[in-house]
Amino acid sequence: MNPSEPRKRFLSGVQPSGKLHIGNYFGAIKQHIDYQDRAEGFYFIADYHALTSLREAEEREQAAAAKNRAVKPRPARDILADNVRDVALDYLALGLDPAKATFYRQSDVPEVTELTWILSTVTGMGLLERAHSYKDKVDKGITPTVGLFTYPVLMAADILIVRSHLVPVGKDQVQHLEMTRDMAGYFNQAYGEVFPEPDVLLGEAAVVPGTDGQKMSKSYGNTIEIFAEGKALRTAVMGIVTDKTPVEAPKDPDTNTVFQLYKLFASPQEQAKMADLYRNPMLDADGRGGRPFGYGDAKTMLLGKLDAYFAPFRERRRQLAADPAHVEGVLAAGARRAREEARATMALVRRAVGMSERPV
Ligand code: TRP
Repeated sequence: MNPSEPRKRFLSGVQPSGKLHIGNYFGAIKQHIDYQDRAEGFYFIADYHALTSLREAEEREQAAAAKNRAVKPRPARDILADNVRDVALDYLALGLDPAKATFYRQSDVPEVTELTWILSTVTGMGLLERAHSYKDKVDKGITPTVGLFTYPVLMAADILIVRSHLVPVGKDQVQHLEMTRDMAGYFNQAYGEVFPEPDVLLGEAAVVPGTDGQKMSKSYGNTIEIFAEGKALRTAVMGIVTDKTPVEAPKDPDTNTVFQLYKLFASPQEQAKMADLYRNPMLDADGRGGRPFGYGDAKTMLLGKLDAYFAPFRERRRQLAADPAHVEGVLAAGARRAREEARATMALVRRAVGMSERPV
């Protein structure tokens, strides 16, 4: 890094929407957390955004409860509070270090909504009408709220309020980032240079297959949760769909979901060894006494690796969950830091548009 350049600032937002799975982890979270060592990081829990889909989450739980008496549907407010707490625990357990990065709840920085309003007055309806994620939701039959429509403006405000230079996102969010750049440009044109136009940081994120071989996704119901353990974890791994090749016949590791998942956790030597066993199932490399190597054996090896990989994170999460005051303290300190930035940005914005720098 060039020492004369200011350290780049980086921002990552995550919607609190339930249990994280290993597709989320290897596809995004891991890279995002690793980035805390390379730039000044701002990480936040997007609870204002979550309000745009909270009622649907509530309805889903009610529908599930109608089918299954064991399910206790939660009111919307509990769903939001539980999900926010879970994301905070998940990220801290997975290695987000509050000594290195600023970690906060979006709603603890209400200046974000003030900036949302101001940006909305320089943003054309047409720009928002072109948003894929909005159009997709409407096509699915969702009756949109104004909040869902202006979701991208709130997202732009998240980024611009800390004047972030870099935003790591998945492909599905690239258009939102382009819109953020547009909004920064409209504002700067109208009122003078206040905002840097942030760049997208597209990681070489792994596409992680789910237990049915499609991309792992909550909406496909094919996930393995990061913090699953014991019987639940075992059931998920043993349930990975494989083809009907007889045990003693050679199998192709490259088209097999178990092997694809194993690769995420195993060293190159371990991968080579398993690939060899797929191709030569009668190979008695590890003393199975001539018993052929089948998918069940591969799953057991995967389970061992997966379990060991996430065990320290689970332990850390348990400790954090037992100390809610500590977690609240981390978020409060993060909010104070983020809010300082937000107030400084809003002073520039308010002055630029002809308001007093601060409300009286
Ligand atoms: N829309 C993002 C998602 O669904 C979450 C998000 C909200 C975000 N605000 C952001 C991501 C700002 C990056 C920057 O994944």
